[in-house]
Amino acid sequence: MLLEESEIRMLIYSIYEKYGYDFSNYSKASIRRRLIRILDLLEFNNLKELQSWLLKSNENFERFLNEVTVNVTEMFRDPTFFKSLKERVFPYLKTFPYTKIWHAGCSTGEEMYSLAILLEEAKLLSKAQVYGTDINTNVIREAREGIYPLKEMADYSRNYVRAGGKESLSNYYLAKFDSAIFSSHIKQNLLFSYHNLVTDSSFNEFNLIVCRNVLIYFDRELQAKVFQLFLDSLPPLGYLALGSKESVLFDKQRDQFEVIDEKERIYRKNGL
Ligand SMILES: C[S@@+](CC[C@H](N)C(=O)[O-])C[C@H]1O[C@@H](n2cnc3c(N)ncnc32)[C@H](O)[C@@H]1O
Repeated sequence: MLLEESEIRMLIYSIYEKYGYDFSNYSKASIRRRLIRILDLLEFNNLKELQSWLLKSNENFERFLNEVTVNVTEMFRDPTFFKSLKERVFPYLKTFPYTKIWHAGCSTGEEMYSLAILLEEAKLLSKAQVYGTDINTNVIREAREGIYPLKEMADYSRNYVRAGGKESLSNYYLAKFDSAIFSSHIKQNLLFSYHNLVTDSSFNEFNLIVCRNVLIYFDRELQAKVFQLFLDSLPPLGYLALGSKESVLFDKQRDQFEVIDEKERIYRKNGL
């Protein structure tokens, strides 16, 4: 399906005007792909039909938001990333009596539960506050529940071992029917809330910020803006972990970070 650039711009502008969500600096290719998918899914013939439907009610917009954001995630996704965090960042976290960690774009929470388990095994969880944020309130709701399909656990267990997990993943959840319900002990210091990286400002200072597979959906201008937000949210020597899938080049702020792990894209903000 052919979508005119001007039509897409109009749709994005009308969303911003009515709901305050600004998609104008998302990658054009990714927005186009998502819109084509949504038109197909909701059986609209063109963007005008989609536009009048989604401006009709908050419920419709919620549905749209659910489809326009890519929420794919898994536990211990790219295990070597978690291994690197354990080896290179945990020793720094251990030097504090209390640490704050932010997962920006946490989706349904699998990544946060993964980190929480590794923090627990390093005796760091009880002295950490881990914030998970996302613009999609549906995924935030699921993340808070911490209930995942039991059938995924075999793959997640393999990832957990590769990430350097010390126990058995099943120690951390209760298997009930076809669900894995993560224990309240693991949930104890996890906090989930809405935060929009495009329009919201920094809300705290963090020793570690994890933001994986989110910036790939933004254009260069927006990536630079979000980097500034991360920079403002880190103390000197605080860590920023982006994961190997991000191909961002943060030219402007590059000299303000030291590379800790090139492959996993883990950086440390310079000292004073
Ligand atoms: C592909 S998921 C990544 C999940 C997890 N970080 C991982 O790597 O497995 C991308 C997430 O970014 C969120 N997202 C997209 N735009 C955002 C924004 N402006 N602010 C905060 N989160 C956003 C989406 O809703 C989605 O849940």
